[in-house]
Amino acid sequence: MTDHYAVVGNPVAHSRSPQIHAAFARQTGQDIDYVRIFSPRDEFAATVRKFRDEGGKGLNVTLPFKLEAFRLCEPADSALDAEAANTLTFADNRLRGDNTDGVGLVRDIQKNLRCTIAGRRVLIMGAGGATRGVMGSLLHERPALLVVANRTLDKATGLVAHFEKFKALATHGISALPYAQLPGYRFDIVINATSAGLNDEMPALPAGVFADGALAYDMVYGKRTPFLTFAAEQGAAIFDGFGMLVEQAAESFLIWRGVRPDTAPVIAKLRIED
Ligand code: ATR
Repeated sequence: MTDHYAVVGNPVAHSRSPQIHAAFARQTGQDIDYVRIFSPRDEFAATVRKFRDEGGKGLNVTLPFKLEAFRLCEPADSALDAEAANTLTFADNRLRGDNTDGVGLVRDIQKNLRCTIAGRRVLIMGAGGATRGVMGSLLHERPALLVVANRTLDKATGLVAHFEKFKALATHGISALPYAQLPGYRFDIVINATSAGLNDEMPALPAGVFADGALAYDMVYGKRTPFLTFAAEQGAAIFDGFGMLVEQAAESFLIWRGVRPDTAPVIAKLRIED
């Protein structure tokens, strides 16, 4: 019997998740279907209930509903850290919520891009949901230092306070800084978790913060953002967030189906079809 899954968002038409999960299902021989569901902004809970009542097994949740999904679910640790859920699982009359974004980012950086996070100086730009979703996972890899830079400093300070309990995981701790205080620092990994690239903008990142051989990662995918262009000019190796998208999907697939798909061929194939 075919099991039903979907991604819920608003908007959702652009989502690549159905293609990704179809590729995973073919590869692993799992009998599932996976569709997009558009939910009106004020009807997310009703959309989730309807899907469950029709026998659906699990949902991915994308913008703007990850916080609401968190409030509806029984959160696993990953969702508690992020205070957001992107993966909902219906089982035994319960609604479990996970957040696979952090694992997705870490696996893309470490497994696909072969860049170790342990002992590295990491800068993450932005202090919204995208950053909160991945900070716990980044810290669990034990970087030397994690700096959160944001235009609105209060938000970065709040995020650092939220992750205070993991502070000792980073050898030199976590800190919040405005962009203007970054000159003088050098980072091995610079992650853009702001939404600036979507508007062809970039944060006010000063020149000279990339260490030799640095990796620059933009969570936005499918376009060369101004940040990636700048980072390339500064000598960094640049990557967009498509690998993270596929890796977070693989983690959801693992939670739902108990099988981890091989992501490399899926990333390669779907990138070409982009
Ligand atoms: P998300 O959930 O995707 O993280 P968000 O909560 O709206 O979205 O957060 C967007 C982030 O991008 C914020 O950190 C925002 O900075 P502010 O908190 O100062 O608003 C950041 N951002 C968006 N456009 C930016 C720009 N042009 N320059 C710098 N930061 C930007």
